[in-house]
Amino acid sequence: MWAEKLGKQLGHPTQSVLGWLVSRFLTARNRILEEKAVQLCGIRPEDTVLELGHGPGLGLQAAAKLLTEPTGHLIGVDYSAYMHQMASEQMKELVASGKVTLHHCDVAAMPLAESTVDKVFHCNCYYFWPDLRKGATEIHRVMKPGGVMVTTLRLSNIVAFAAKRVFPGENWRPETYMTALRDSGFTDVRMEDTQHKDITFQAIYATASK
Ligand SMILES: C[S@@+](CC[C@H](N)C(=O)[O-])C[C@H]1O[C@@H](n2cnc3c(N)ncnc32)[C@H](O)[C@@H]1O
Repeated sequence: MWAEKLGKQLGHPTQSVLGWLVSRFLTARNRILEEKAVQLCGIRPEDTVLELGHGPGLGLQAAAKLLTEPTGHLIGVDYSAYMHQMASEQMKELVASGKVTLHHCDVAAMPLAESTVDKVFHCNCYYFWPDLRKGATEIHRVMKPGGVMVTTLRLSNIVAFAAKRVFPGENWRPETYMTALRDSGFTDVRMEDTQHKDITFQAIYATASK
């Protein structure tokens, strides 16, 4: 029962006591994963970069610092009204200047033109998507040919959460997501172990071939 409640809030935080606790948990626990995803996707100062399921906004803050050219643009999407509001508040100056655009929407239906995004990153997000193929196809649609997508995860934590039935279904499995990416037109799809100090985590890479 508690696992299902926790899973619901992790997958779609709402403005509530549990939602607030989840936002604090994400901010405290996921900084390294978010910063590593930003680092590993190889952002150039002039890129258009997209974060999926940004949550409180740690990754957005790290990515925005790298987009120093006038054409550099950061986009974030999250379908939680609470997370959209929290990140909008944190990034309000960059949103006002037009450097950052945040959309309150589902990954599976983003209000973005096709072939416009150079880099995509996300952390702890795909486990909650009901249809991985639909999500992957939409990501592929908005990416420029040759664009790189990276997602970071701590597989040991994810396996432990899954054993407690925090996630709905089996979509948390990296192989399932990687299959959906390949089926949607991504190539060079692979998962690699990475180390940060004493923390081992994983990164899934995919290239949008078109
Ligand atoms: C566990 S939180 C992770 C937040 C942040 N990336 C982190 O690692 O701290 C998952 C986030 O993804 C968002 N999310 C999940 N499924 C989504 C979907 N289909 N479309 C948009 N956002 C989604 C949730 O609202 C939530 O903010």
